[in-house]
Amino acid sequence: MHEVEVETPLGILLLRVIRHRDGREWRAVRLRNRDWLKNWDATTPPISPGPPPTFAAMVRGLRAETKAGRLIPWVLELDGQIIGQLTIGGITRGSLCSAHAGYWIAKDYAGRGIMTLALGAAIDYLFQQEGLHRVEVNIRPENASSKRIVEKLGLRYEGLRERYLHIDGDWRDHLSFAITHEEVPDGLLARYRAQQLVAEPPSPANLESEKEIVEHAPNSSV
Ligand SMILES: CC(C)(COP(=O)(O)OP(=O)(O)OC[C@H]1O[C@@H](n2cnc3c(N)ncnc32)[C@H](O)[C@@H]1OP(=O)(O)O)[C@@H](O)C(=O)NCCC(=O)NCCS
Repeated sequence: MHEVEVETPLGILLLRVIRHRDGREWRAVRLRNRDWLKNWDATTPPISPGPPPTFAAMVRGLRAETKAGRLIPWVLELDGQIIGQLTIGGITRGSLCSAHAGYWIAKDYAGRGIMTLALGAAIDYLFQQEGLHRVEVNIRPENASSKRIVEKLGLRYEGLRERYLHIDGDWRDHLSFAITHEEVPDGLLARYRAQQLVAEPPSPANLESEKEIVEHAPNSSV
């Protein structure tokens, strides 16, 4: 259910729905990254009563929402290890066909382009497999790394949402970015990868070795 694979510089990344047996590993990666995630983690406003749910209760709730078609709670798995999460929430059908995305990655894996690729693949999946029309990402103005992700993928800035989400213990302003299916008819990931090739043309050394490969290829027409 809802599995997506994406090629990254570190190998094949798997996006798969969180499951009950992830508990021990999920808690460990969250604990190791507590300081790294603190400023950006969603929190419960004081008006909501009771303690935060246990992992089992959280997964039960997430999977029920997934079954109802309102949520896709992916974990990011690399070499069989959970390295982050990408959650698609607020899935609405009908004449809206929209959803929003939230994400985090373990500090040790940051800065390798992984979440940019994961979000690109996730949005392609939502457009091409789930028939959604629009996806949005809401980001705190001070979150430079997350803003770079939507910039690299070319999501449009739509405006400021004041006191939009309860993050790190208070209601925080967010900048809203969005993309619709028409903007990427051939896929968001394909567009991003093509832009990267233009931005980073192959080095002369690589070109030389590519030329050798072509010249020595058995069915080469050169
Ligand atoms: C935001 C986040 C998901 C980015 O994931 P990522 O896999 O590192 O994404 P990328 O590798 O594409 O990097 C995006 C930008 O992060 C910045 N960055 C790179 N290495 C970094 C590091 N070690 N620490 C912090 N930021 C870094 C760079 O500006 C980079 O842009 P660049 O490619 O132009 O250099 C990750 O930093 C994270 O999980 N942060 C904490 C939780 C969070 O902010 N979630 C998003 C809430 S909206």
